[in-house]
Amino acid sequence: MNKLIILLFAVAISSCNVNSENIKFEKYFVSGERIYEKKCSNCHQKDGSGFKGLYPSLNQNKLLSLGKEQVICLLKFGSNPTSTENSSRFNPVMPPSDLSSLEIAQLTTYIFSKWNNGENLMNVKEVNSILSKCKK
Ligand code: HEC
Repeated sequence: MNKLIILLFAVAISSCNVNSENIKFEKYFVSGERIYEKKCSNCHQKDGSGFKGLYPSLNQNKLLSLGKEQVICLLKFGSNPTSTENSSRFNPVMPPSDLSSLEIAQLTTYIFSKWNNGENLMNVKEVNSILSKCKK
């Protein structure tokens, strides 16, 4: 009987964890969408399709060919020859930003999951650790 109660507890606790991750994901996704529409969609377009040869599309599953580290550095520091390998592909380049680590976590949660780029919830700790290693 005791074992059963412990088992039930374990199940309840683990499903709680799943739910709180889901709630966090939803919150990040919604905030990320808001930031995207305000700060990114004028270049990359609301649907992520980009603009001809000027602004790359973000919705064709190619995002992570840059790698999530490079994307996060790009979001903070903009494209310059040392922060991305491909900065000569586009002209004009992407400007640096004053986004906080939380905003970057929310934005990347949004763009990575919205357009199936293989990542889901990004957390602030991971963003901070990546940012500390960007080549500036
Ligand atoms: C002024 C226009 C402009 C704005 C605003 C802008 N970008 Fe960009 N973005 C670019 C350009 C140009 C590139 C290509 C840069 C390069 O390759 O060096 C780019 C590249 C990217 C890439 C890499 C795509 C790839 O496959 O190479 C991502 C991801 C990205 N932008 C996301 C964002 C997000 C998210 C925002 C909002 C915070 C944003 N951008 C705001 C112009 C812009």
